[in-house]
Amino acid sequence: MSLQAPSIDSLALQGKTVLIRVDFNVPRDAQGSITDDTRIRAALPTLRAVLAGGGKPVCLMHLGRPKGQVVEDLRVSAIGKRLEELMELPVTTLTESTGQAVSDSIAGAPAHGVVLLENVRFHGGETQGDPELSKSYAALGDLFINDAFGASHRAHSSVSGIAGCLPSAAGLLLEKEVQAFGRILNDPARPFVAILGGAKVSDKLTVIENLLDKVDVLVVGGGMAYTFLAAQGHSVGISLVEENQIDLCKAALAKAAERGVRLLLPVDHVVADRFAADAEASVSGVDIPEGRMALDIGPKTQELYAAEVEAAKTVVWNGPMGVFEMEAFRAGTARVGQALANCSGYTVVGGGDSVAAIGMLGLESAVDHISTGGGASLELLEGKALPGIAALGQIA
Ligand code: 3PG
Repeated sequence: MSLQAPSIDSLALQGKTVLIRVDFNVPRDAQGSITDDTRIRAALPTLRAVLAGGGKPVCLMHLGRPKGQVVEDLRVSAIGKRLEELMELPVTTLTESTGQAVSDSIAGAPAHGVVLLENVRFHGGETQGDPELSKSYAALGDLFINDAFGASHRAHSSVSGIAGCLPSAAGLLLEKEVQAFGRILNDPARPFVAILGGAKVSDKLTVIENLLDKVDVLVVGGGMAYTFLAAQGHSVGISLVEENQIDLCKAALAKAAERGVRLLLPVDHVVADRFAADAEASVSGVDIPEGRMALDIGPKTQELYAAEVEAAKTVVWNGPMGVFEMEAFRAGTARVGQALANCSGYTVVGGGDSVAAIGMLGLESAVDHISTGGGASLELLEGKALPGIAALGQIA
């Protein structure tokens, strides 16, 4: 996978109003305060590049899933404020995202500043990819840049639809993300190790299928490991198992063997009698006793997995090894995260939970690329083309 889309340099920005799709869908607390502004920071280079080229940046974003209704809690005003602090420039935050009044406000906004439009998902047509809505957005500007990597798997009006209406390019964040995933998927230095975790194997089987053609070692942890162990005939106690995925796990194990990929499963576990932070934890061997559920990989598995990761030349990590939010079941994710940080090869972390784990462990600076996209990075690992990228560069 390489980025076919034109870069910002291909656009004549001077004097132009430049519509930029950003992914400012940031986590917020119950009061609506932003708890992590990584995604806003990640888009700043593109906004600065547009300003430096003499363009006026107008950002389109979504927040949450308001399903075509105006939801007061999902207005973008708090994000506009944070953007203004980070840019140290005036940010004009509007309460609509289409129409003449918006057009007038853009024209009247300070020349060396940024405009932020209201949550595009207040329009019912946005998530349907309504072409008329794409045209309404396009009427507000001269050029389009997609920098919303995290939303690029959505064929929505403000992501892919608008690229069919204006000359367009990939933003700097989008470029960086695609290059990172392109490097691991197209031409990885070997050994290439993928670490997959998370609760449900059904969410990851397409990723496993695609990665088995590319990796040398596939390390499996988290809830998804127990369906694999059940497929191998191990007892799994009351651990999370997706019965209807057992045959697919068997097929994945067979494919791994056929391809010569080492698919590693836990050899021991941290188990408890219930899913709770204060549950009494103990270590079990590969077979999980009756009445016990595995909530983390065990100490032997941690060392085994860490050794694979530390010796790798390329590593991609998606999904925690256990219930890392609870201290008693965090060690597996922490050990693998530390191994990733120790690895001298090229390391990429994608997916919300593993990114949160890396943040919790304070290891951000030791990883080569931390993706801003959850669903989008998974779809790249599945080998899919993302509509928000495929649509760029159609109009000269
Ligand atoms: C994300 O948070 O992963 C992106 O912003 C996409 O959001 P969505 O899953 O609501 O489309």
